[in-house]
Amino acid sequence: MTMYSHLQERTRAEPPVTLDSLRKMKADGVNIACLTAYDASFAAAVDEAGTDLVLVGDSLGMVVQGFDTTVPVTMADMVYHTRCVRRGVSRAFLVADMPFGSYALPEPAFANAVRLMQEGGAAMVKLEGGALQVRTVEFLASRDIPVCAHIGLTPQSVHKLGGFKVQGREQSAATQMLDDAHALQEAGADIVLLECVPSALGKAITAALSVPVIGIGAGPDVDGQILVLYDILAVTTGRKPRFARDFLAGAAGIGDALARYVAAVRDGSYPAPEHEFS
Ligand code: KIV
Repeated sequence: MTMYSHLQERTRAEPPVTLDSLRKMKADGVNIACLTAYDASFAAAVDEAGTDLVLVGDSLGMVVQGFDTTVPVTMADMVYHTRCVRRGVSRAFLVADMPFGSYALPEPAFANAVRLMQEGGAAMVKLEGGALQVRTVEFLASRDIPVCAHIGLTPQSVHKLGGFKVQGREQSAATQMLDDAHALQEAGADIVLLECVPSALGKAITAALSVPVIGIGAGPDVDGQILVLYDILAVTTGRKPRFARDFLAGAAGIGDALARYVAAVRDGSYPAPEHEFS
């Protein structure tokens, strides 16, 4: 028996989460609990806690590799970490980020998405950007690649945006974001992820779309929440995002902290007003 055999031995007591289950959760008003993971052991813990969707985020560039931004993360990094996480997850829906520069044109985007699915074992890829990504989303979706479209604060554009800032506060920007969300859904995006937007805009976009909308700093009125794993386990050093909560504080251990996160998302006690933007 190898040291990590527990990862293989975990039983599939519950059926795996699929896009259909996530759509049904939206329809039934059940909040979707999502977290990032970067390795097999934490992925197993996150999965065991009942998380519905696990994202291998390119945030790994910051929290694992120690860069200031996600820009240096490569395809090789993403394939490697997605393969690690795949081995730990048995129930949750697995999404992998497409790194900076890997999806600027439809054909290379397709080749890179195929790598994340075939070599990494992802069930969906996530890419950042609004209207400009419509052609790529259409190209991928029409070739059976499930796509999550990430709008609002898009960290790979940090040098263009001039920092990690709340997006969509002005009426014109909010209207543009709503239009982009519609266009991405029309192009075939199966999930929209909204980062750092006023709660009212999170609510409006969620009500307008038929696909699940997952928020991070987008208020309580979205279909699900996602946070960076290290932000909820008090691993992150330095400045923590305003919308994150330390779930390890008061918990019996990491498993309990993760279960508390899932429970808080489900019952709507996370996010609280102090985690929202207006
Ligand atoms: O890279 C990441 O972890 C993400 C989440 C912050 C949503 O995109």
